[in-house]
Amino acid sequence: MQAFYNSFYAAVEHSSVHAEFCTRVFGRNLCQHGFADMAQLNALIAAVRIEPGSSVLDIGGGNGMIAEYISDRTGAHVTGLDFSPDAIERATARTAAKADRLAFVVGDINALKVSSAAYDVILSIDSIYFSDDYARTVCDFTAALRPGGRLGFLYSYGREPWVAKTDFPTENLAPERTPLGVALTACGLTFTVHDFTVQDHQLALRRKGILSELRPQFEAEGLQFIWENRMGDANGVAAAVEEGLHRRYLYVAKPRP
Ligand SMILES: C[S@@+](CC[C@H](N)C(=O)[O-])C[C@H]1O[C@@H](n2cnc3c(N)ncnc32)[C@H](O)[C@@H]1O
Repeated sequence: MQAFYNSFYAAVEHSSVHAEFCTRVFGRNLCQHGFADMAQLNALIAAVRIEPGSSVLDIGGGNGMIAEYISDRTGAHVTGLDFSPDAIERATARTAAKADRLAFVVGDINALKVSSAAYDVILSIDSIYFSDDYARTVCDFTAALRPGGRLGFLYSYGREPWVAKTDFPTENLAPERTPLGVALTACGLTFTVHDFTVQDHQLALRRKGILSELRPQFEAEGLQFIWENRMGDANGVAAAVEEGLHRRYLYVAKPRP
């Protein structure tokens, strides 16, 4: 997985077709590899209340373009953490002139080494999936929050293509029953949820259409592996939503008072 992401971030940094893909699908090119468009990202920023001077940690933030956008937009101090050393190197080099409010560190969501009580907000945008134990990870995040701090997740849960429809536990689609919802409760957090499933479906269909159109350019740039990865995701999400076996949620969580 780390090899895939090293190759992905190396390839997309200077790719004109990937920039066009992200701009047309998500509304802006932030080298996204998750599923959040600008409407979801801006909803997340508002929901977790990121303010000038807030201390924010973005877990699984890739090459840091989302962290940079958040800091530019809000004036917050944002640290991006990612498993891919290549992505972190690129993020650090690209944002050297903004080092007073942006920092990037290599880290593993399964072996987090972050200071306790250090952050006002911790974000996970399509990265909790890489945790081996959601409850432990959520508790690790919680320990890193300052008093009054908030966790924000953009998160999808649904039937993967290799799971038979009859084996998928539909009762776990409810926000409090998803693996993330269960982990939040297990760690003693309360949470609010916004449902982005309809938008997720629209985005998946848009991805499919734009990818079909841009296939020759992806091939010309030697980026078939990205085209296939993104088309596979889009097909999987579209099919699962159409079966009623997929949800996308924005969770905002905080410790119980
Ligand atoms: C689906 S991408 C999402 C990236 C970004 N948040 C976005 O929305 O575009 C998942 C990210 O998690 C990172 N990642 C994968 N495994 C990880 C791990 N064990 N610890 C930390 N980050 C990890 C990947 O390198 C990648 O940048």
